[in-house]
Amino acid sequence: MSTDIPVREITKENPYKILFICLGNICRSPTAEGVFQHEVDEAGLSDYFEIDSAGTSAWHEGEPANSKTRSIAEQHGVKLHSRARQVKGSDTGYFDLLVAMDESNMDNMQHLIHTGENQKKMIKMRDFDPQPEDGNVPDPYYGGISGFENVFQIVKRSSLSLLDTLKPHIKS
Ligand code: 4NP
Repeated sequence: MSTDIPVREITKENPYKILFICLGNICRSPTAEGVFQHEVDEAGLSDYFEIDSAGTSAWHEGEPANSKTRSIAEQHGVKLHSRARQVKGSDTGYFDLLVAMDESNMDNMQHLIHTGENQKKMIKMRDFDPQPEDGNVPDPYYGGISGFENVFQIVKRSSLSLLDTLKPHIKS
């Protein structure tokens, strides 16, 4: 598990901003956004983080998360409120951390990244998974419900581990 990410002092005045990224922004990254936000809220740390998600494509612009994605998340107590949007160049400067779901998302982001500083912000979700397997969160879109449950479990493990890494940098 690799945990080399840009960290800084996290305060209410300057919350740590995380953008979760996938292809369509209707399955994996909305799950990551919702799960990470849920963990932050449960920990009483909502004021210290700004969480969003986006897709490298604009195919589903404006849509809520996929119905299976929402249903699995709700079974685990997480409500998803996202509306799909495409990632834009200014996101790479604005956010502190850009978390891609898989290697192809990483590749698709490269044309938006123009500085070494922003390049260091790009990581993969499973860099934080204690059981990273091939390092990618598998795309569940064309498969059955078990793929969506698998995505939820991967994202949950990875989110908890990412939050644990950031917690020591919070200054209340
Ligand atoms: P996501 O899943 O990248 O996790 O949101 C997908 C959603 C839609 C498509 C592919 C993947 N699509 O081909 O429309």
